[in-house]
Amino acid sequence: MAGAQWSIMRGGFTLQSCFNNELHVAIIMDGNGRWATRRGLPRVAGHRAGLGAARRIVEHAPDVGIGRLTLYAFSSDNWRRPAAEVESIFWLLRAFLRMETERLRERGARLEAIGRRDRLPRAVLRAIENAEWRTAAGHRLHLRVAIDYSSRDAIASAAATALARKPAPDPKALTSSLAAAVIAGSSDVDLLIRTGGEKRLSDFLLWESAYAELVFTDRMWPEFNESDLDAALEEFYRRERRFGGVTNQAARAVGGR
Ligand code: IPE
Ligand code: IPE
Ligand code: MG
Repeated sequence: MAGAQWSIMRGGFTLQSCFNNELHVAIIMDGNGRWATRRGLPRVAGHRAGLGAARRIVEHAPDVGIGRLTLYAFSSDNWRRPAAEVESIFWLLRAFLRMETERLRERGARLEAIGRRDRLPRAVLRAIENAEWRTAAGHRLHLRVAIDYSSRDAIASAAATALARKPAPDPKALTSSLAAAVIAGSSDVDLLIRTGGEKRLSDFLLWESAYAELVFTDRMWPEFNESDLDAALEEFYRRERRFGGVTNQAARAVGGR
């Protein structure tokens, strides 16, 4: 897909944005369990099939202008699931990292895990560190995988660090310091997709999605494919982003004295 452009009025300035693999897309990969249950399969079969979808989307993303892709793989609240399901998810995550690292490196993808690391099984942590190290030079796609991730925790921990400084920051300084800490090494989300039919954020990238375009699809994650991603992007490009301002056209129409 060719780069898309938009222009908006913000604080009296016109911002021009041109996508050249600069788009940040985030995906809540939901629906694995239901996909499996509907087929009379155990939930873990859905998680396994979900890896196939992740592989397809990671391959396709850089070809359609996505420079940063954040995938929600395991939320901090997912620890509430039965231990056997949690174990299977981590086993599959580790297998995915081990199998895909070389391909990611070849494709110029840089993998980064976001979220807490201190509660992860040691073997998963090793697989993450190995994948991060081996793909560190990738510059075509910044692939972030959210594991044991909670956006509230990320914001709260950035706030705790900022507020511990002396002198304590005023509200404006706190906002910029939080923005810097939360966004660190990343960017605001342009498009957030959730599969599986639910219409909620489930503690994912709350700060970074302040002006994200949201696309919810009933497609279960194991069935999500390249055309579904293309359709979500087409929907994104049809939307008009205003960031609290007005479009150029609307600004001209305001008239006034
Ligand atoms: C998403 O699929 C994967 C994880 C949360 C790890 P689910 O397992 O939540 O699937 P559903 O929502 O129960 O169908
Ligand atoms: C969100 O899905 C987490 C991931 C996709 C990893 P959940 O299935 O855990 O979310 P809820 O419980 O339906 O909100
Ligand atoms: Mg779910």
